[in-house]
Amino acid sequence: MTDLEAAIRQRTARVGVVGLGYVGLPLIRAFVAAGFRTLGFDVDQHKVDQLRAGRSYIKHIPAEWIQECLAGERFEPTADLRRLNEADCVLICVPTPLSDSRDPDLEYVEQTARAIAAALRPGQLIVLESTTYPGTTRDVVLPILAASGLQVGRDFFLAYSPEREDPGNPDYGASGIPKVVGGIEPMSARLAEVLYSQAVVRIVPVSSCEVAEACKILENTYRAVNIAMVNELKMLYDRMGIDVWEVIEAAKTKPFGFAAFYPGPGLGGHCIPIDPFYLSWVARKHGLSTRFIELAGEINAQMPQYVIERVVRELNERGKPLKGSRVCLLGVAYKKDVDDPRESPSFVLMDLLRQRGAVLSYNDPHVPKLPKMRHHDVPELASQELTPEFLAAQDCVLIATDHSAYDYDHVVRHAKLVIDTRNATKCVQDNRDRIVKT
Ligand SMILES: NC(=O)c1ccc[n+]([C@@H]2O[C@H](COP(=O)([O-])OP(=O)(O)OC[C@H]3O[C@@H](n4cnc5c(N)ncnc54)[C@H](O)[C@@H]3O)[C@@H](O)[C@H]2O)c1
Repeated sequence: MTDLEAAIRQRTARVGVVGLGYVGLPLIRAFVAAGFRTLGFDVDQHKVDQLRAGRSYIKHIPAEWIQECLAGERFEPTADLRRLNEADCVLICVPTPLSDSRDPDLEYVEQTARAIAAALRPGQLIVLESTTYPGTTRDVVLPILAASGLQVGRDFFLAYSPEREDPGNPDYGASGIPKVVGGIEPMSARLAEVLYSQAVVRIVPVSSCEVAEACKILENTYRAVNIAMVNELKMLYDRMGIDVWEVIEAAKTKPFGFAAFYPGPGLGGHCIPIDPFYLSWVARKHGLSTRFIELAGEINAQMPQYVIERVVRELNERGKPLKGSRVCLLGVAYKKDVDDPRESPSFVLMDLLRQRGAVLSYNDPHVPKLPKMRHHDVPELASQELTPEFLAAQDCVLIATDHSAYDYDHVVRHAKLVIDTRNATKCVQDNRDRIVKT
């Protein structure tokens, strides 16, 4: 047994996590709960300062937990990447976005790999967790680390283990989700498996980093394609007067061979709208196209437009043009009960509404002020309180995210028209004639 393996098993190894965001912080939590001392790295000094002051910037990470960890010296946040050599195991959880031309943007992963290479010392285990295309760990990360002069499998160890975090899901936290692990070579795989098995419910070893990378992209592509399929069926069933949500509820009673996916106003979040395009990009390099991914992207991207057309039609029925109408959007987070607005279709809906002259307002209990977004010209708006008077003054209330905190009876009771893209009002009994599902 190597010294590193012994230290991991005794839980005296220090775990470093690079990228203290939606993935990195829950991961630290899992390792702290398993008894490890952790170091958290982030280039965003503001985030580090907040954590050091015992404050949380992610809704489902309690400030009390951060304060306890700081007091017990279980977690130390820092922006000083030179301290990467203090960690025995370094887990990389930095963003993997798309560039403006929708190609993989590995800038953050490369920067991190360079910072690790500058501090690399014999006996360290490095694991990439960021979602990416098959081949990234071997072709992008390894050469940067190997440029340090140290040799993988002998001096340091390198693996890939995809993060499967599902923010806002009360049933599965980082320690409860099985972890797929693939190494660059056998010793790297073994050490990564031993490390995660200390903190995570089950390890799923696979034969290489590439299999682990491909597994994550398969999971996300599966979701993107199935969501596109139900979105397409929604448009068809809408026209036929069939409620697609009722169809899905019935279909999911089949005990095998069917997993329920739900339509919505478009795709959101850091993963599902983005990751499949990592695979399309690598497919092009292999002379192949990924037609399912392209088609799913096309259908999902069309959904906000479809929703706005419905808003226009319903207002028109009520003798109102969209121009000058008051529209309040409910929910700007990309999914239920989270505070993460990244890639949320709500911003596309807002762009379309403003282009057509609607008087826009919004409410989101988890997003008090509209954040700046890279690809949208976001107005400076604060979340409006949903008082009876405010709701009654709107020409249309558009439900984009079905947060549990909403009192849908109250919304429908006071609003003139509710366009519901999530079937959020399914339990509302009264005034159903004001609800249009789309
Ligand atoms: N959010 C999710 O639900 C989720 C789920 C599964 C996988 N993932 C994947 O995990 C990765 C991270 O996603 P996230 O949602 O946690 O992102 P995030 O933006 O919440 O957090 C990433 C953090 O990394 C920091 N960072 C950027 N460059 C850095 C650098 N060079 N060194 C140190 N820190 C750096 C950023 O400041 C940020 O705080 C992505 O690849 C994403 O696709 C995300």
